[in-house]
Amino acid sequence: MAMESLLVVVLTLLAVFLYVQNVRWKRRYPPGPRAWPIVGNLRDLAPGQHRVFAEWRLKYGDVFTVWLGPRPAVVLNGQDAVKEALQKHGDIFSSRPDLFLWGKIIPTRGKGITAAPYGPEWKETRKVALTWLNAFGAGKQSLEPTIVQEAQDLVQVFKDKQGQPFDPTVPLSLAASNVISSVVFGRRFNHDDERFSRLIKLQNRYFRANASAQALNVYPILRHIPSIRRKLEEVVTCSEEIRSFVIEVIQEHRETFDPNNIRDVIDGFLLEEHQGNRILSELPEDNIINVIRNLFVAGSDTTATTLSWALLYLVMNQEVQRKVHVEIDVSLGKQTPSMLLRDYLPYTEATIREAQRIRSIAPSSVPHETTAPATILGHQIPAGTFILPNLWSLHMDPKFWPDPERFDPTRFLDADGQLAPRTESFLPFSVGPRRCLGEQLAKFELFLFFTSLLQQFTFKLPEGAPTPDTEGIFGLVFSPKPFKICAFPRY
Ligand code: HEM
Repeated sequence: MAMESLLVVVLTLLAVFLYVQNVRWKRRYPPGPRAWPIVGNLRDLAPGQHRVFAEWRLKYGDVFTVWLGPRPAVVLNGQDAVKEALQKHGDIFSSRPDLFLWGKIIPTRGKGITAAPYGPEWKETRKVALTWLNAFGAGKQSLEPTIVQEAQDLVQVFKDKQGQPFDPTVPLSLAASNVISSVVFGRRFNHDDERFSRLIKLQNRYFRANASAQALNVYPILRHIPSIRRKLEEVVTCSEEIRSFVIEVIQEHRETFDPNNIRDVIDGFLLEEHQGNRILSELPEDNIINVIRNLFVAGSDTTATTLSWALLYLVMNQEVQRKVHVEIDVSLGKQTPSMLLRDYLPYTEATIREAQRIRSIAPSSVPHETTAPATILGHQIPAGTFILPNLWSLHMDPKFWPDPERFDPTRFLDADGQLAPRTESFLPFSVGPRRCLGEQLAKFELFLFFTSLLQQFTFKLPEGAPTPDTEGIFGLVFSPKPFKICAFPRY
């Protein structure tokens, strides 16, 4: 009996101790919804993180904490909080958390660009990548012929469908991947090239597997459950195959490298190495492998998915499509699209931006992590905190975008029908030191692909098809659910 009483006392004391510790621990973070033991707020997020965050923003304000299982994450909502953190305190808010899956995919954690923690190695690697991306025309006039060529091939692929219903996702992925391949690998692939199609399919599989294995980032221990272990294995297998492809291409470059003839971004990195770049040459070979893989992965499905959303919203908004056609007919006619003509196509450009607003492909950006304590909108955030910049909250903020679910490109135009010089609450490429490295390239691609397609086709839903679902699927990018469209040639 005495033993039992002692046990009760010990357990009660332990429970009180854990409760007090928990309360103290939680007080270190901004307030947020009540979290359940073990699962935290994960169950509450099931209906769709971006929708649930929108409700919680109304309740808890622009800076709140959610518990991803045992891990606190501070969600930044609205442009004031996001800009104050990522831009004004960019030196504190620009690291990346150490995620279990990243550790499995990127063998030498901390190398490359996207998953690398903030610090001199990441800064130098990013700077060199940007220098060579720019040197090979990313976001510049000199890359236009390459993108236009891809756009023309894409037009042909769409024409070959002869007005029959098809899913545009794979051809869009191939086209966008070819642009980044030209810049990074110095080569493009035919739409029917087996090796390339395999790589693109592999990448799609990798994106899907990665999304379905996200639970492992919260509870790595789940890898011992066979069904989850299989998902992890799928992520690792796909990742390893993409990696092998990249290693092979880098090896081919090493064998033919000529410092007097730099052909692409890979050669650019090899030149830095050759010239003894102090930071890069001290990094292991994995750095260049990871950089090239990051650029390829980040540079293909992002642009392609944005174009998919744009086409989906156009088939659902025929009046917008008609206005785009009229503008293209008047200002471009049958000329080849060019960035130089963008100023003459404000409604077309506004339509692209509206697609990026209404369906961000990265609703919660890529996770950040703080490297020191900071205060955002009066809330204290400790060092080492997992940060989710909620870009969706900016793009759906009714203060800036009344009736935010309405697709209306005129939001981006001024009273004279020209592109508004400044856009509030719109950051599809994020902001601060970690902002998208491919922003300029992506803007060129989006404009040239979109204009080329709309110049040539009228897009419609297949006869009798139900109104498509625009809720989207969360993966590494937020993409539309599979859908089919018909492309009818205009000439
Ligand atoms: C419409 C197309 C695109 C969108 C909407 C987009 C959006 C984003 C966003 C939201 C981030 C996270 C920024 C942050 O952590 O704060 C990001 C990171 C990144 N993006 Fe893009 N992106 C696009 C296209 C591209 C392209 C074409 C490239 C190819 C060069 C690229 C390369 C990268 C890289 C390397 C990073 C990681 C940057 C770092 O961690 O320092 N992106 N992008």
